[in-house]
Amino acid sequence: MELSGKKILIGVCGSIAAYKITLLVRTLVKEGAEVRLVMTEAASDFIPALTLGVLSKNPVLSQFTEEKNGIWNNHVELGAWADVYLIAPVTANTLGKMAHGICDNLLLAVYLSAKCPVYFAPAMDLDMHNHPSTRANIKTLESYGNRLIPAEAGELASGLIGEGRMAEPKKLHEVLVAHLREHSQKKSEEIAFTGKKVLVTAGPTYEAIDPVRFIGNHSSGKMGFALADELANAGADVTLITGPTNLQATHSNIEVVSILSAEEMLHACMERFPGQDIVIMSAAVADYTPIEVAPNKIKKKGAALSIELKPTVDILKELGTLKKEHQVLVGFALETENEIEHAKGKLERKNLDLIVLNSLKDEGAGFGGDQNKVTIIGKDNNIVEYKLKPKAAVARDIANAISELL
Ligand code: CTP
Repeated sequence: MELSGKKILIGVCGSIAAYKITLLVRTLVKEGAEVRLVMTEAASDFIPALTLGVLSKNPVLSQFTEEKNGIWNNHVELGAWADVYLIAPVTANTLGKMAHGICDNLLLAVYLSAKCPVYFAPAMDLDMHNHPSTRANIKTLESYGNRLIPAEAGELASGLIGEGRMAEPKKLHEVLVAHLREHSQKKSEEIAFTGKKVLVTAGPTYEAIDPVRFIGNHSSGKMGFALADELANAGADVTLITGPTNLQATHSNIEVVSILSAEEMLHACMERFPGQDIVIMSAAVADYTPIEVAPNKIKKKGAALSIELKPTVDILKELGTLKKEHQVLVGFALETENEIEHAKGKLERKNLDLIVLNSLKDEGAGFGGDQNKVTIIGKDNNIVEYKLKPKAAVARDIANAISELL
């Protein structure tokens, strides 16, 4: 069961939407999650604690103490227990209190002491939802790192039509599952990459024609920088060898080595390769370079000009021949036709463990942009096609595919 072992805390406030939480609790419990609930006093006017208690198979808490049996409901313990805290529905009243640190019930005390990510799904009438103070409270909560699940438009309990309906239980479920999935992916990446030495190459290379001109390409370096970031965040010691880009690596676990030409990139890679556990060649290395670099600026003469080129060393192929058993080597392939076949050919010829295929046919993917659409092919012939997504998310998919090899 996908959610087994996951701990989900749900805070319910006094809104007519509270009844919808029953469906969410039931689904989450069915999928193996451990669900606990806290309610405000007003919430019990809309949904009995008993219903939520039976569905979650846990007592539903709303008071700091239970005088009858002398129990103190420890808000700190609850906040520390949860993997994620969803407050849904959250009313204008509770939103305001959360935004201003007011703590006059258990749900709010748990919110203030929660160590886990907090999601909140507002539910209120149209005018309350549109009121500047509500908008400001939502903004404030987001600025504290809380994650908004926006209210949806539709018919409201008052009969008005507009924005203010709590997101449907299906949406809340989707958000929670996506969050927990990403979180466990991150955790397994951290286990896989902590202390690993990773070399990433990024950006274009510039092949000099004369002192002022060069042959280059449109690579922005964004994919390589995103990979370096992702792996450094997962605990790896990253060396990023990069051609000219406008980007800056900020993570303290990333050592940046700047190069200009394919030859400089070759030397930088060869020197560092023996100490690496993982190498990812995402740079767009020039395949050809001028045979000779003119010592002075070439003057125009009116006639046609030919520049003779020679092939550069295929760095990835060289590394493939030197690769040791414990090393993982990942290449990129940019193809325009017979994509899978060509990428598989490169994977074999260059002795790679994985190849990341970009197709120029895919709109929005590839050079320059902030998004990419890739297919990852393993040497066991496992082919996984991913959707178009931001390069940081693509980097996570690639890191995840690598972590499965470690
Ligand atoms: N690469 C490299 N050294 C080069 C050229 C490319 O290490 N001189 C690496 C790239 O970083 C990328 C992979 O090889 O990871 C694929 O590069 P590509 O140019 O697409 O492959 P080629 O084998 O050169 O094939 P073709 O140009 O015919 O598509």
